[in-house]
Amino acid sequence: MKDTHDTPEWVLANGTVHTPAGPLNIDVGVREGKIVQLGSFPGVRQVDCTGLDILPGVIDSQVHFREPGLEHKEDLESGSRAAVLGGVTAVFEMPNTNPNTDTAERIADKLRRAHHRMWCDHAFYVGATAGNAEHLAELERIPGTAGVKIFMGSSTGNLLVAEDATLARVLESGARRVAIHAEDEERMNERKNLRVTGDPASHPVWRDDESAMLATARILRLARQARRPIHILHVTTPSELAVISQHRDIATCELTPQHLTLAAEEAYPAIGTHAQMNPPVRSAAHRDGLWYWLQQGVADVIGSDHAPHTLEEKARTYPDSPAGMPGVQTLLPLMLDHVAHGRMTLERLIDMTSAGVQRVFGLVGKGRIAAGYDADFTIVDCKGSFEITEDWLASRCGWSPFTGKQLQGRVVGTIVRGQQAMWNGQLADKAHGEPLRFAGAL
Ligand code: DOR
Repeated sequence: MKDTHDTPEWVLANGTVHTPAGPLNIDVGVREGKIVQLGSFPGVRQVDCTGLDILPGVIDSQVHFREPGLEHKEDLESGSRAAVLGGVTAVFEMPNTNPNTDTAERIADKLRRAHHRMWCDHAFYVGATAGNAEHLAELERIPGTAGVKIFMGSSTGNLLVAEDATLARVLESGARRVAIHAEDEERMNERKNLRVTGDPASHPVWRDDESAMLATARILRLARQARRPIHILHVTTPSELAVISQHRDIATCELTPQHLTLAAEEAYPAIGTHAQMNPPVRSAAHRDGLWYWLQQGVADVIGSDHAPHTLEEKARTYPDSPAGMPGVQTLLPLMLDHVAHGRMTLERLIDMTSAGVQRVFGLVGKGRIAAGYDADFTIVDCKGSFEITEDWLASRCGWSPFTGKQLQGRVVGTIVRGQQAMWNGQLADKAHGEPLRFAGAL
């Protein structure tokens, strides 16, 4: 028997609900921002989801929202608005802002800026440096932190930990899973002369697959020595996934929609520097290899690496053009289209965007539709068709590498802790994002 305080205030009714037990035709009862019961609730106010799929809220564990310091590209409000318009209920935000997020004060500053100004729930990574290595054990335990992020190769900003000795110091400080940008700085420095001015197609020649493989192999070795779990971000080569598949006790990894969708042969001629990111978009053979390993069950999460730069910045001549592209709003529409084309099942996508993220990072109260969990839902129409148009995009950068793309699958609603952040393209009146909670930082 349920108590009256467990009686739902409202229910998501008549949809297909994707529970840990699989898809069920059942209603979801919500009270005070939490899921109280799955069942049937006659007489309770309904949000009708006939014909729709109700997914656990999509969590994007890699975005760059640029605040503080780079607000001309994006800020926490605009980036999170793009997130909820694309069906994302929570994000982990990256530390290469200006200043970098590398002290307790800077984490506190981001959390203050985010509170009820961000449209979705959020956590912030702390950037590892040679200077803060010994403080990371403390910093990673601050509530609202997603954990430590290491840039092994230079990318946007100046966060960098390239040498084995410093990497070891970072990995020995703390216990939570460390997120890694794995590109080998030394090899990339040696190969800088391979960049061809004006030709972004030379980007993956410079930052070649060996640069990625070398860094991944090094960090796997160092992580094992330090007995520290790691998470390799935006993996771009099948060989890295093959190696990661042999180290599942210490390593998880992420794929991005960009690397699963774009291929060098078409992307650089068609959209030039808009396809430039780190690690690079590689060949169609690489892309197919990522799909192979995804289908083998090796990749754990899909993250967007939303990394906006303005059109003006992207118009600079390669290699002066910055690397990165927006993606938080298009993550789910693109991946639903891949599902519609039979490249992965909806259940596998759901795992990689919710329960998988929960498992990898130890999130609390998120990632599944189950009693007691937060009432975070992403509601989609898998049969609907959708075109990515410029006027739909909310990122301050104002462009997407996927503008004009026709997709199957449409995001209908984004519900964050029981409140509609977006429904049928309409935003709520107010943002009410709150910090995420993690088992390692409560
Ligand atoms: O392409 C990228 N852009 N890769 C990164 O690692 C950083 C990001 C950015 O912040 O612009």
